[in-house]
Formats: sequence, structure tokens, C-alpha cells
Amino acid sequence: MRTPLIAGNWKMNTTTTEARVLASDLRGPLDSIEGVETVVCPPFVSLATVADALRRSSVKVGAQNMHYEAKGAFTGEIAPAMLADLCEYVILGHSERRHIFLEDDALVNKKVAAALSAGLKPILAVGERLEERNAGDTEQVITRQVRAGLAGIAADEALIIAYEPVWAIGTGIAASPEAAGETIGLVRRLVAELYGDEFAQALRILYGGSVTPDNIAELRAQREVDGGLVGGASLKATDFVSIVRQSAPAAG
Ligand code: 13P
Repeated sequence: MRTPLIAGNWKMNTTTTEARVLASDLRGPLDSIEGVETVVCPPFVSLATVADALRRSSVKVGAQNMHYEAKGAFTGEIAPAMLADLCEYVILGHSERRHIFLEDDALVNKKVAAALSAGLKPILAVGERLEERNAGDTEQVITRQVRAGLAGIAADEALIIAYEPVWAIGTGIAASPEAAGETIGLVRRLVAELYGDEFAQALRILYGGSVTPDNIAELRAQREVDGGLVGGASLKATDFVSIVRQSAPAAG
């Protein structure tokens, strides 16, 4: 059975002081929940602070992005090895990176490769936009993003994938549990084509997009949904803890 994973993407929120408080508020309650892996992804500047606040806690730390080069003249960028010193996970290909900062599949692919070589666990995010969904292109878009994102990458147990339909992010309109389950099933079949059934069955695939304490239980009730990548609701300790608690195997 796959261990569920709930990751909080704090996006461009929290000062370092606020990040320390949020991490400290999460620590006790999350440590008392068994059977769910939890990750928080604060802004780069708070990674060290949050890692410190969560030292010897079960809650893991992740970054929200990174550059693929090891070092050099890339003003404003952060290299894989810099993150590997501070955290375990890194979100790559988030839709906000793809659509606001124009990251394409080829760039995301380089980042996935670089993260794995640096010993980081990449959370590769994929998802279709509203117009693509309305045009009936969801399957085609997800297929392209998964195949291109993983092109040339060897099977690696550190990999995690998150399906985040762009139209569900920050809108309060989550995908229906059935639709989330169906598309995640597609992602798993695509991964099976690349790496075989055994790998695909062990891979955690998360759903993201307006996950809340009110909808996590029905999302998790879908066999394919192994957890959540949570934005807005991860900024409120009580909401995030509730989402994690409801994701524990015993709760399902
Ligand atoms: P919301 O949970 O705010 O919709 O954000 C989802 C997301 O983008 C997580 O990466």
C-alpha cells in the first residue's frame, strides 16, 4: 500500500517570522498523526528557519522551485545542491511556474533530472488549463507533460507526481473526486508505460487544486489519489492538520 503524502505549498506567502510560527504550530499536531507523510514548502528564504523549527519532527521540508544548473552566473536562481543542504523535496513544474514564468516541458525535464542527481525528491506537477479541458484536450496535455517531464529519466523511487488542474488552483472549485481519480489513473498508466507496472503501482500521485478540510476525505476515498498538494489551506495550521488527519489510512 502507498503511504499517503500531504504537501503544503506556501507559495509566496509568510515572512520568515510567520513561517517559523506556522511550522511550530504544525509540528506537534502533525507528529501525533500516523500513517501520513507530510511536507511543507515555504519560500526559499524561510527554508532554513522552517527546517530548524521542524528538526527531529516527522514533518519534512521542500522547496517550491529550483534551477537545473549546479552553479554559476544565474542571478536570483537557486541550485539543487543549495536545496539539498536544507530540504528533502522540491516542487517542479508547478502551473504558476509554467504559466506565469513560462517554464516549458523541456525546462521542467532538466529540473527533474537535476533534482534527482542532487538527491532531492521532485514533486513533478502537471495539469491542464480550463480552455484545454473545455476543448477535450486533458488527456493529450497530461500525456505530453508526463512523457516530456520524465523523458530520459531513469526510474527513481524518489519521484512523486502531482496532478493539479490549473482551473482548480486557488479557485475554490476542486476537481470532482471521480475526475481527479480518473486523471491520476491516466498518469499512473503513462508512468507504467515508461517504467513498468510495479514502479507505477508504488508511485505516489497527489491531487492539487482547492483541497480543503471539506473535500479531502472524498478525494482520498478515490483509490488512485495518494494525497494532496495543498495551497491556500496549508497556510492555516488547523486546516492543514485536519487535511492530514483525514488522509491517514485509518480515517479512510
Ligand atoms: P490551492 O490549494 O490554493 O488551490 O493551490 C493548489 C496549489 O497550487 C498547490 O500547489
